[in-house]
Amino acid sequence: MAACRSKVSSVFRPNLFKDKVAIVTGGGTGIGKAIALELLYLGCKVMIASRKMDRLQKAAKEMKTLIDSQGRGSASLKHVECNIRKEEQVQHLISHTISEFGQLDFLVNNGGGQFPSPAEGISLKGWNAVIETNLTGTFLCCREAYTQWMKDHGGVIVNIIADMWRGFPLMSHTGAARSAVDNLTKSLAIEWAEDGVRVNAVAPGSSIYSETAADNYGDTDIFKRVLPNIPAKRLGLTEEVSGAVCFLLSPAASYISGETVKVDAGGSLYPSWTWNIDDHKKSVPYSWETDDNGSHTPPKSKL
Ligand SMILES: NC(=O)c1ccc[n+]([C@@H]2O[C@H](COP(=O)([O-])OP(=O)(O)OC[C@H]3O[C@@H](n4cnc5c(N)ncnc54)[C@H](OP(=O)(O)O)[C@@H]3O)[C@@H](O)[C@H]2O)c1
Repeated sequence: MAACRSKVSSVFRPNLFKDKVAIVTGGGTGIGKAIALELLYLGCKVMIASRKMDRLQKAAKEMKTLIDSQGRGSASLKHVECNIRKEEQVQHLISHTISEFGQLDFLVNNGGGQFPSPAEGISLKGWNAVIETNLTGTFLCCREAYTQWMKDHGGVIVNIIADMWRGFPLMSHTGAARSAVDNLTKSLAIEWAEDGVRVNAVAPGSSIYSETAADNYGDTDIFKRVLPNIPAKRLGLTEEVSGAVCFLLSPAASYISGETVKVDAGGSLYPSWTWNIDDHKKSVPYSWETDDNGSHTPPKSKL
């Protein structure tokens, strides 16, 4: 799929998601916006939700104009303010979507955020904020979508996580939260299978360029620094994440549940770029000899 200022398109067939309804959290910016646009282009009705109403309004207007100019009918797009950390706001997001559109087929948990810091510098408040947004917020959205609609009607959930497969130095809070969502995805896929609910995740590499993400980090060069460690030697497009999400939502993935699809061009198989370990001699080797005082004598290293 390619979305730019003047055009939206998709590799999927027209009207693939006609008569379907989706929620995309964080759908007004970056990856979430690309997902919302592709869903709309494929005929889906979409509710985008996040904290900042002005951003949502602007994005909704822009997306509607873009879709309406494609000659495929008018975009069915609504927006609602929702902080996914607040239980009552999540409950409202789901009930409001059902009352506006009459159903809820897809939930894309894309809303999230974090700030870079070595673990030792993360305050309890900062830690809790990241865990509450990325883990608890995702859980609340899943639970409410299930209890209010999907338990009786089925549905598909896709959770957006991150490249935390080798740990996530400088992002330990979000690494822990996203890893937990990877596991939550598996648990829910099993618990809700008997109700016809599929639950999967998509793990973008840290190389998916989004202006808002760079702004949030206050570091416009962050994406340049990732480049050398990307096997594809280019940044990823938000639309390349959207394509994977649409696949998982589609009937082509009808036998896929509890799975996480990495969209990172193999970056998670390549050395991590976030942390360099300087030479040091502080690693204490295994030792089996003790002197009379109980002190250990390490074996002599050959190097
Ligand atoms: N770009 C990458 O390379 C990359 C890699 C791995 C994972 N990801 C993840 O992919 C998702 C989208 O990222 P992006 O790159 O598109 O960045 P982004 O544009 O900053 O998107 C984050 C979105 O989440 C929303 N959000 C944040 N906190 C929220 C909350 N408490 N409640 C509701 N919505 C909230 C934001 O909207 P408001 O500010 O209006 O609430 C924003 O629309 C995020 O979860 C991100 O961590 C991105």
